[in-house]
Amino acid sequence: MSYVLEVQGLKKKIGKRYIVNDVNFRVEEGEIFGLLGPNGAGKTTIIRMITGLINRTDGKVFIKGNSVDTDYKGSMNELGAIVENPEFYKYMSGYANLKHYARMSLKPISEERIKEVVQLVKLDGAIHQKVKTYSLGMRQRLGVAQALLHGPSLLILDEPTNGLDPQGMKEFRDYLKVLAENGTSILVSSHMLGEMQLMCDRFAIIEKGVLTHVSSMEDENNAFAEEMREVLLVVNEAGAAASLPGFLSLTENLDVSGEQILKFSAKYDSLPMIVKELTDHGVQIYEMTPVKKSLEDRFLELTREKEEALL
Ligand SMILES: Nc1ncnc2c1ncn2[C@@H]1O[C@H](COP(=O)(O)OP(=O)(O)OP(=O)(O)O)[C@@H](O)[C@H]1O
Ligand SMILES: [Mg+2]
Repeated sequence: MSYVLEVQGLKKKIGKRYIVNDVNFRVEEGEIFGLLGPNGAGKTTIIRMITGLINRTDGKVFIKGNSVDTDYKGSMNELGAIVENPEFYKYMSGYANLKHYARMSLKPISEERIKEVVQLVKLDGAIHQKVKTYSLGMRQRLGVAQALLHGPSLLILDEPTNGLDPQGMKEFRDYLKVLAENGTSILVSSHMLGEMQLMCDRFAIIEKGVLTHVSSMEDENNAFAEEMREVLLVVNEAGAAASLPGFLSLTENLDVSGEQILKFSAKYDSLPMIVKELTDHGVQIYEMTPVKKSLEDRFLELTREKEEALL
């Protein structure tokens, strides 16, 4: 397995306090990896250390296998980042801004490359308009275009969907996925769990400067399928009154509250059998509502497990 980013023992001490403490993680080729944590957890500090904007107190960073300490130029060639809000000349067009940026690049950037990147972030239609006419979403995309100009393998974005509306977030997510499919690995931070759930292949939870958990969306989904889940059924009155042995054996915490509502927990796999059992016994089902657990619940569970383990 080759890693596009490897972070080892990363620490940042300010005064007497470690605001980042012994953080380790790796980002694989073509994956979207999330840093998830509440405000003040240390996400921006981690990102600023990786991108070299601030010094590390301790730890190592490798980009495409190159240590940023021994091969700074080589590793920066493979890195594109938007950490603070990207600054643009508002009275110049998006295109003029990119050309200006390209001229300052260490690596020569062709006119073709600029066009390619503009297409990639879907700004072709507006690239010759002045940046002051751009929406926030368009500015974000121009920022990504700028970060991608020199063709890096790794793109780092600190809270890129901040301030975007739901439609803007979805568009942004969709084209980050396109970038990842085309081989660019992405490290992205957010304090919004739902957002990470929709965007990332894997994510790390950062709390008070410490990485407490790494998980893939696949693991999360598998854990989700294995768990007992709560289901609400709306049935006919006679159905709610019926006590069915087969049904009871497949459920836990059965609660017949209200005349037409059955509430119980069961494994996802056994739901079709339960429904069959019920209808075979003449129960009519009008509604079935799974009480779905979101990543947010999982996040709370994981942090709670940690706290309990510490007690
Ligand atoms: N230069 C600094 N001096 C002192 N404390 C700092 C400094 N920079 C960051 N901190 C503190 O370190 C902690 C982590 O800050 P950081 O900005 O990395 O968090 P974050 O996870 O990015 O938060 P947010 O979601 O709000 O962006 C915070 O408690 C912050 O107050
Ligand atoms: Mg931050």
